[in-house]
Amino acid sequence: MNENRQAKAAQGEIAANESSASETGGGEALVRVALAGRSYDVLVGPGLAPRAAALIDKRLGPARCAIVTDANVAATHLAGVAAGLEAMGRLAGSKILVPGESGKSFAVLAELCESLLAMQLERGDLVLALGGGVIGDLAGFAASILRRGIRYVQLPTTLLAQVDSSVGGKTAINASHGKNLLGTFHQPSLVLADIDLLATLPPRQFRAGYVEAAKYAMLADAAYFDWLEANRTSLFRQEPAALSEAIAIAVAGKAAIVARDETETGERMLLNLGHTFGHALEAWAGYSDKLLHGEAVAIGITLAFELSHELGFSDAMSVERVRSHLASAGLPTHIKQIPGNDWPDADTLLRLMAQDKKVRAGQLTLILARGIGKAFATRDVGAATVRDFLERRIG
Ligand SMILES: NC(=O)c1ccc[n+]([C@@H]2O[C@H](COP(=O)([O-])OP(=O)(O)OC[C@H]3O[C@@H](n4cnc5c(N)ncnc54)[C@H](O)[C@@H]3O)[C@@H](O)[C@H]2O)c1
Repeated sequence: MNENRQAKAAQGEIAANESSASETGGGEALVRVALAGRSYDVLVGPGLAPRAAALIDKRLGPARCAIVTDANVAATHLAGVAAGLEAMGRLAGSKILVPGESGKSFAVLAELCESLLAMQLERGDLVLALGGGVIGDLAGFAASILRRGIRYVQLPTTLLAQVDSSVGGKTAINASHGKNLLGTFHQPSLVLADIDLLATLPPRQFRAGYVEAAKYAMLADAAYFDWLEANRTSLFRQEPAALSEAIAIAVAGKAAIVARDETETGERMLLNLGHTFGHALEAWAGYSDKLLHGEAVAIGITLAFELSHELGFSDAMSVERVRSHLASAGLPTHIKQIPGNDWPDADTLLRLMAQDKKVRAGQLTLILARGIGKAFATRDVGAATVRDFLERRIG
């Protein structure tokens, strides 16, 4: 990590008083998520998965591990991780789930918990989440309720999971009423973000994951946004140095926010930039491949900046930089870029937005921005204003 960016990443740490981003001897970046008794390390770099068993053993002590993964990830990455655990006598078993958002259900959670119990995981043992955000959310949820809570380690395999979902301890499944409405806060004990695993990720998934890194820049770190603009080509070529740096900065930023507001009573809400609109769009699309989570968030972030500009908070230049950066990464920025030729109307989106977890006393909490890197939460924008804005955006 170059000196400027390392210093920038560490700023979050200084503000949080504890989190840090630095290089370890092994060439990977180390980010500390500082949560008193629940603190943990995030390692970011190449070559971590083959060493997972040894890294876990060294940091968390001897424990049996149950690997939770999905069929896509299992095809390329399970054998190596399982062999490492097996060689050290630590493998309790592997559970391979069906890939996709539909897996975040009560039925799959129940099946997973039964399988983990059948592996006779004890209180001191570990769940190892090997997969994207879906597997991380599910495995974390299962770990949080198994025998009233056991430890888990995240080995994220998508860019989205490496920059965002593997850190911060939010676990969830979806309900018929909306996304992530059932879940717990349960921090992992260690996160190993191995950038080598991203080589097998389909390009569309890589782009969708990139949104969460750009989101962090757009909400809290204008210098990081400049850096992303300058390094987009290297990042999308998956050049190791650029990729590790981008992930470590986003993780350090998120870690600092989580350290200040673990259970999202204030500042952590800012990480939902673009998500209130985005979740409504995902729900409308039926959580299908028609619109990936990151794609929905890309449209949602653009809407949030456009609304911020309309309400006089953000300058037009910031809106344009956000829109053109996302578009140049091949991401949708407008509802009408969702494939097909029918789109949700404003009332449908508003109804779906009302299920947002940030709704208080029926009033939407919106994350808006006073420019790049200057997001804020507000309850002062009425439903009629949002409806009118959406109607004009879709119309
Ligand atoms: N807990 C949090 O803080 C948090 C934050 C953001 C998002 N999320 C959740 O994360 C989920 C989205 O995560 P995601 O985008 O990682 O989706 P995902 O887990 O469904 O993975 C996307 C697809 O890529 C495949 N895949 C994963 N790793 C691969 C690899 N290395 N090579 C080839 N294929 C691979 C998966 O099988 C899947 O088909 C959503 O459910 C969202 O709600 C959670």
